[in-house]
Amino acid sequence: MPLIPLRPLLDHAAQNNYGVCALNVNDMEQIQAIMEAARATQSPVIIQASRGARKFTNDLFLKHLMLAAVELYPEIPVVMHQDHGNSPDTCISAIRMGFTSVMMDGSLEEDAKTPAGYEYNVAVTREVVNVAHRFGVSVEGELGCLGSLEHGTGEKEDGHGAEGKLTLDQLLTDPDQAVDFVKRTGIDALAVAMGTSHGAYKFSRKPTGDVLAMTRIEEIHKKIPNCHLVMHGSSSVPQDLVGIINKYGGKIKETYGVPVEEIQRGIRAGVRKINVDTDNRLAITGAIRKAFTDKPEEFDPRYYLTPARAAMQKVCEERMRQFGQAGQASKVPVVTTEQMAKDYAAGKFGENARPDANAVVHKGKGGGVSAMAH
Ligand code: G3H
Ligand code: 13P
Ligand code: ZN
Repeated sequence: MPLIPLRPLLDHAAQNNYGVCALNVNDMEQIQAIMEAARATQSPVIIQASRGARKFTNDLFLKHLMLAAVELYPEIPVVMHQDHGNSPDTCISAIRMGFTSVMMDGSLEEDAKTPAGYEYNVAVTREVVNVAHRFGVSVEGELGCLGSLEHGTGEKEDGHGAEGKLTLDQLLTDPDQAVDFVKRTGIDALAVAMGTSHGAYKFSRKPTGDVLAMTRIEEIHKKIPNCHLVMHGSSSVPQDLVGIINKYGGKIKETYGVPVEEIQRGIRAGVRKINVDTDNRLAITGAIRKAFTDKPEEFDPRYYLTPARAAMQKVCEERMRQFGQAGQASKVPVVTTEQMAKDYAAGKFGENARPDANAVVHKGKGGGVSAMAH
């Protein structure tokens, strides 16, 4: 089956009360790990690439690896998603490359560090919706900045995150503003801030409601029950994976992630897309460290990449079962981007999701309608 857009998958997830993990990739082995996990559990999948991943892998390699994935696993619905697009240019270049879903993260300015103003966020997100929906591509927006409620700072562990101290208003998505944001942008999914952050160092203790504000998600869901919510920074940082890394020479300090039961609580409150990257990084690194220690005389990359890939597959399978997407692969409707483009234009997803007929088409270096028309 072709790559599918995000929207019909999340609509199906909402109708059937499950969540879908969105898994970051940077190379072939990670894509293989996800696809094998999807086959083993019969799960639909969201595979996402950050700007850093696109740079590391190269767009063309990534595109063809993804095409290989759908050809080799025809029974698995796959969404190819741009994670944390920092500008319309980034999102448009992803659309040109064949991504079926993009995140316009206008919570931060284009430098991916400075918290952005609300009107800026609305404007850039709407700009992306106007282009993406014309091509049937789904759009995720973000309102509120990811960051710790323990110490009030954003995180820059992976190069994308707010710099300096953030206010509580910035760290917690405002439910009323979320209503306005969804209405004015016409997005398909909304990422919200409630105390999670990227990377391994999320919480200094097992999180309780004061530092992981799941009630905020529940309040937002009450106000916009038909909007799919997204949780970023949702790795659980399993202690056993940290233990393996440290046993074999690593130096990960004491840290805690987002407990799976809190994510399951989120799924009951409208969370449909759950971003997980760090847990897979931990699994891969632990397996490679162990392999190096077990047989220091080995130097064939297949010797350590094989257990690394298997370790990531195990994490992916666990999350697919825990989030409820296991067993859903054959039930997800196969909707093409072409069909979605017609549906958006016809107003099937509401007036606000219909691209503006007279919108100024983005003229930046990634843009131009002719450049995108393939
Ligand atoms: O945005 C967070 C993801 O974990 C991707 O991280 O920017 O280091 O590829 P990255
Ligand atoms: P983690 O670092 O918790 O895995 O979060 C990943 C993420 O949110 C990617 O956008
Ligand atoms: Zn994220």
